[in-house]
Amino acid sequence: MSARSPDTSSISFTALYTGHVWYANGLSAPAFHTRRGSVFYHALAPFEYVGGKLAGGNIRTFLLQRHHLIDHLVRDAIEQRGVRQVLEIACGLSPRGYRFRQQYPDLKYVEADLPDMAARKHRLLSAQQCLNDMHRVVPLNIFSSDGVDAMETIADKCFDRSQPLLVITEGLVNYFSLESISPFWQRLQEMLAGYAGGTYLTDNYPLFHDHPFHRTMKTLGGMLGAASRSQVSFHFGSDQETSSHFSELGFASVTVHNPKDFYQQLPIPQSRGNPFVRVIEART
Ligand SMILES: C[S@@+](CC[C@H](N)C(=O)[O-])C[C@H]1O[C@@H](n2cnc3c(N)ncnc32)[C@H](O)[C@@H]1O
Repeated sequence: MSARSPDTSSISFTALYTGHVWYANGLSAPAFHTRRGSVFYHALAPFEYVGGKLAGGNIRTFLLQRHHLIDHLVRDAIEQRGVRQVLEIACGLSPRGYRFRQQYPDLKYVEADLPDMAARKHRLLSAQQCLNDMHRVVPLNIFSSDGVDAMETIADKCFDRSQPLLVITEGLVNYFSLESISPFWQRLQEMLAGYAGGTYLTDNYPLFHDHPFHRTMKTLGGMLGAASRSQVSFHFGSDQETSSHFSELGFASVTVHNPKDFYQQLPIPQSRGNPFVRVIEART
């Protein structure tokens, strides 16, 4: 990591929880099970129940919505646009790389996370004998703009610029303020512009100006921020604001996907009202 990059590893434990959500919902393989993930998952069960009753959708609802929707968009990029190179940043214990590599053997998939989480994922996938030139796990810090753990260095080393590149972040960006995360998005746009077609997929949690649980959401965000010692933030007040922000960063086309538009198409749980999560697809 370069000297200027902050240590945000206090966020990493959340990957155990989400990892267990994927596992418990049939999206993963037995090797991805962790005892701590299972403890977190069961500890949150009562809050999930109350959240479902009060807010019309609990944490698992929006996690599953975002995960299935990102999978769907990755599949679409592979099958419709010939994408054969993927960089998944902040991969945690997500099984996406494992599943997609099984389904698409000619797909190059590089998973990346902070050093400790990357080492853990490396051990997990090595034990499954999954790793080779086409499937790698590397340490990467989104705040490093040079050095071995910078996204740009890793992309130069692993990918072919004459081919399209797809970059994913899932469950990462809302741990940072808009001011802190935007320079990363700007670097990402510049990097993707150097490829023969660049796509960025990320989940994002907007906080609509007229959201009925505006105060509750802010309180929950504050609690998660305290637990993970991060600046959990809601970046945008509407889908239009989201879209404008990414256009201003230089992305040529931006689509803000709402899970409710995929209820008929994907096996996702439905929220009672407007879903809390969006998936942004920004292309160069
Ligand atoms: C909520 S978890 C999401 C993991 C996975 N994407 C998923 O959805 O299950 C957040 C992840 O962000 C990673 N992370 C935190 N700060 C990071 C940084 N500065 N650069 C790269 N990854 C980071 C953590 O290590 C953790 O794996």
